[in-house]
Amino acid sequence: MKKREIWASRVGLIFAAAGNAVGLGNLLRFPSKVALYGGGAFMVPYFVALFLLGIPLMILEWVIGRYAGARGHGSMTGIMGSLFHHANWARVLGSLGVAIPFLIVCYYIYIESWTLGFAFFSLLGQIPEPVASSDPKTAMTPYVEFFKSYTAPSPVAIFFLLVTLLINWYILQRGVVKGIEFTAKLGIPALLLMGIFLAVVSLSIRGGKGFEGLLYIYTPDFSRIWDPHVWLEASGQIFFTLSLGMGAIATYASYVKAREDVLKAGLWTAGINEFVEVVIGASIAIPAAFAMFGALAVPELAKEGTFRLGFMSMPAVLMALPFDWLLSALWFLLLFIAALTSSLALIQPLISLFEDEMRWKHSKAVNVSMLMVSVGAFLSAFLPGFIDELDFWAGTFMLVFFALVEIIVFVWIFGVHKFHHELTRDVFMKVPKGFVYFFAITSPIFLVALLYQWGVLQLPKVVASADSTVVIARLFILSTLVFLAFVAVDSRRRYLSGPHL
Ligand code: PHE
Repeated sequence: MKKREIWASRVGLIFAAAGNAVGLGNLLRFPSKVALYGGGAFMVPYFVALFLLGIPLMILEWVIGRYAGARGHGSMTGIMGSLFHHANWARVLGSLGVAIPFLIVCYYIYIESWTLGFAFFSLLGQIPEPVASSDPKTAMTPYVEFFKSYTAPSPVAIFFLLVTLLINWYILQRGVVKGIEFTAKLGIPALLLMGIFLAVVSLSIRGGKGFEGLLYIYTPDFSRIWDPHVWLEASGQIFFTLSLGMGAIATYASYVKAREDVLKAGLWTAGINEFVEVVIGASIAIPAAFAMFGALAVPELAKEGTFRLGFMSMPAVLMALPFDWLLSALWFLLLFIAALTSSLALIQPLISLFEDEMRWKHSKAVNVSMLMVSVGAFLSAFLPGFIDELDFWAGTFMLVFFALVEIIVFVWIFGVHKFHHELTRDVFMKVPKGFVYFFAITSPIFLVALLYQWGVLQLPKVVASADSTVVIARLFILSTLVFLAFVAVDSRRRYLSGPHL
């Protein structure tokens, strides 16, 4: 049997993991959520969730990923299976962890293709300039029209979607080291440089007015501390941005060498991601919008949709500056690189499922995975409402649910003792067992409370709205779950009958 790949170097592995976590979540979703949920009021639960859920879960996924990778598994189907003698229940439960990233990538990759298209239009100088007006809505009208006609979808949008799919296919076809690691090693340093540069630009427009935006984010505000909605959104953002609760981190962790320091890797991943979120992400879209349109306009802009604030207002801001075309191209290129290294991470669990469990050849695994992603991406492009429906179920609800499953399965059922043993093997620092107990008890309570609130607050609203595209989206989600559960059971035989590592 062909050996599984392993990351070629420590630096490469950290960059790849950073590329996995850093994405549209940091640069678009985060500013929108901050603005929608009250700036400093959002940041209080945000940091609580980061330390209570984000960092512990990040380390958990790294530890489990290394354990399962050494046994030849990289997808949650195989990872959960390998812990329980490949019992069908564990494999089927794990298959949820392959379904989630797949469902997310179906819309994520479509938004990724917009950023590529818009980078090109910027370079060609074809992004419309804002009209002179102090009202942001009026100022942005030409750009909004442009955006709407592009995403209708126009034939150009479909062209860039195809190009984006091809780029992902090509990189994944080259494999973990020559494809993913190589891309991240080029992409992440470029992303950091461009991000820091754009942050400086945004903060300094109009004689530093952008700083007011930073103050808005970083003045702690406890007035909404009892609002469950804010807690919900802040925790959801932590999962989304750190790529947690879906096995995407565990899949990358499965490609480490047997004695890799996963504690260090996990802390680096979380550290870089948070730098790009709370430092760079916080310094671009919100400060720029503050400087151009003033404080009152920012929450209004955010209300227009999760990706609006950064996607819609940034070009309006940048197009009013010297070298507008170049700045706007840089912004979209930054978004594209961030999105690309994340979409690779969202597709890899599916590839790993086909390779490790079905024992398919790499090229076949990639081709079938990309074919499935293409179907989902075209549905996202042509069915209005499809993106939001998938973002709610897979990008929000299922993440929290699966995070809970992970803790129960990997810490409780696997056993605190065994988990602690894995956690302290070959790492730079021995985490005391007390921490594991603390985490094993507090985070499920936190998550159950969250799920309960979600059920009360959001579920009735979401379930009630059911037009025909929503029904198609739900059928798509359901058939994905059923299909992957079937693969989980079917591949068990194939896996067990094949040669073992
Ligand atoms: N964390 C990514 C972002 O912030 C999204 C993502 C989730 C990527 C899960 C991979 C896996 O955009």
